[in-house]
Amino acid sequence: MNSATFRSVLLITGVCELGACSQAETSLAIEAEFLRQSEELTARFQSELQMELSSALSEVGPAGAIGVCQSAAPAIGARLSEDSGFTVSRVARRNRNAVNAISPDLEALYSELESSPMQDGSPRPVHGTVGERLVYLRAIPMQEQPCSTCHGSNIDPALSEAISQSYPEDLAVGFEPGELRGAFLVERQKQR
Ligand code: HEC
Repeated sequence: MNSATFRSVLLITGVCELGACSQAETSLAIEAEFLRQSEELTARFQSELQMELSSALSEVGPAGAIGVCQSAAPAIGARLSEDSGFTVSRVARRNRNAVNAISPDLEALYSELESSPMQDGSPRPVHGTVGERLVYLRAIPMQEQPCSTCHGSNIDPALSEAISQSYPEDLAVGFEPGELRGAFLVERQKQR
């Protein structure tokens, strides 16, 4: 180590002893851990929901599966939230259930996903600090199957009728494969 490096190590150590850099290090570590867990949580959300949806579609058909979507997604989100201590949910601008609307402070991050939902062949993640929260969003791209059955442009009239009975304000139809259908959202309060 040359003397200049040695001096800067002393300097950094000195700053750390005053508490400044350990705090910065702590918040970086918290953020890295948050991102790691968010990736894992959204992957679990996706695979558990997909399993429930595909078994409902084959056992009770699309009209019956509406009820499964209605109860399964929030139930999985609630369980993952409980497991992690974060808040895990699904959101969408053009939503079927207005409960899933995006809050105005997430507009900017959500728009990034809308402009390109995929990255390196996978649904794209974005993250940031929003107010007092750490926020992670992962794109849910529209797929032909099975999504078009209930969110596409050519929905069977009887099914469409059943959907509008439960969701008279439905905005989640007419999606093309590859478009952003919505996003998984993970949030945690920043530590003070
Ligand atoms: C059987 C019909 C059905 C199929 C098939 C289906 N969905 Fe849905 N989807 C629904 C219903 C019903 C809701 C509203 C759930 C609720 O009340 O929270 C919903 C809600 C959503 C939401 C939450 C945001 C919103 O609009 O309220 C996303 C995101 C979503 N679906 C994506 C998909 C994707 C991606 C696929 C294909 C893998 C898919 N859906 C397949 C019926 C379906």
